[in-house]
Amino acid sequence: MTLTIKKPKKIQGCIDAPSAKSISHRAVIFSSVSTGTSIIQNFSASADCLSTVRCMRQLGAKIVTLRSNRATNKYARTLQITGVGENGLTEPTNVLNAGNSGTTMRFLMGLLAANEINSVLTGDHSLRSRPMTREIHALRELGADIWARGDRSLAPISINGKFLTGGQCTMPEASAQLKSSLLLAGLFSKGPITINQPHISRDHSERMLTAMGAQITSDKLQLIIQPGPIRATDMTVPGDISSASFWLVLGLCHPDSEVTVRNVNINPSRTGFLEVIEQMGGSIKITNRANQSGEPIADLTASSSSLSSAVIEGALIPLLIDELPVLALAACFAKGQTIIRDASSLRVKETDRIATTTSELRRMGANIQETSDGMIISGVTSLQGATTSSHGDHRLAMTLGIAGMLAEGETEIAHPDSTKISYPGFWEDLNIIAPGVLDSNER
Ligand code: S3P
Repeated sequence: MTLTIKKPKKIQGCIDAPSAKSISHRAVIFSSVSTGTSIIQNFSASADCLSTVRCMRQLGAKIVTLRSNRATNKYARTLQITGVGENGLTEPTNVLNAGNSGTTMRFLMGLLAANEINSVLTGDHSLRSRPMTREIHALRELGADIWARGDRSLAPISINGKFLTGGQCTMPEASAQLKSSLLLAGLFSKGPITINQPHISRDHSERMLTAMGAQITSDKLQLIIQPGPIRATDMTVPGDISSASFWLVLGLCHPDSEVTVRNVNINPSRTGFLEVIEQMGGSIKITNRANQSGEPIADLTASSSSLSSAVIEGALIPLLIDELPVLALAACFAKGQTIIRDASSLRVKETDRIATTTSELRRMGANIQETSDGMIISGVTSLQGATTSSHGDHRLAMTLGIAGMLAEGETEIAHPDSTKISYPGFWEDLNIIAPGVLDSNER
């Protein structure tokens, strides 16, 4: 299938942020190993989060969809989860398939390595090509028995789970997935696990696990988790800032626009995007601040702005890692040269996002160069519609959708349906924001 998009004259609209993928994964995994029954509202029915639900069911959790919130949002669900309790995981009778979801695979590696069951984890074509080296190495150092193909880095991964004694781990790079994998291992080990991080990364796991009764202490960049049971806790998942960033870039870069995204999670370990936009001179108003299940939320309104370039590097990178493709698009409309560096982990996301973002935006006339760990982008006066492809990467599909709304002429996008991985309602929301700009062709 392909989609064709053209630039609307004016954009004025309001969207409810889709449920946060990162927080939905955590809510299901942590509730599944807790003691008791919890209700998770506004759970993301994205393909990645549904992969997590399938795996946790195979491991013995009882997960029931209560109602689908269809009246307001057909892609959000209310789940009732009865956890297996401490040491209650069932050995799966088949391979666990994480689909396209790196988060599912990495979190389960930590969980399964520290529980006395045997399991095999696999994923789709893309996930089976993404190195799991960081997690395998760290868990092996803690005594885990993990095997993988491709020089011990690629799925399928086989885990002979056992109770680990605990210990120390110094993370080679800031990664919330690795950190959370280690936190899960720590919950089930015999002794505490100390985690030393090079920089801050998203802290949803620490917040949620603490609210569920886990003992986690933190001192600057060091975390210590004590083993022990966690209790079922009801929660409502806030909206996703990574998904919201697409509409915000549209609002900023279109010459006649104002876009509001409601109920966005503005956890400070996720707001690197907002910091960069402020530095670039973009206008994003933050209103209706509130708290939802231990996470800060707000409504964000972006309006047409004259952007200038920025340097995006260092400790900021983990705070906006998933927003870099759409920030590269914003940089195409900014005066001067934007430099993104220290982001080599982009090369092992769902696609090599440095290569795919560069090649697809170039087709549209962007002045963008690939570097080993980032991109250099010089602002241009306009982008031109072109034939492009998402390469099956959800964040690239959405970046190209927004690029198509900003470019002159028509933009064709192949494999647009990859948006289902994190934001299944993306194209429907695009139709709400700008009715009539989208055409779909079955081929
Ligand atoms: C995630 C952490 C990030 C991010 C991924 C989701 C998480 O990955 O890119 O989409 O939910 O913890 P890294 O931990 O590899 O940086």
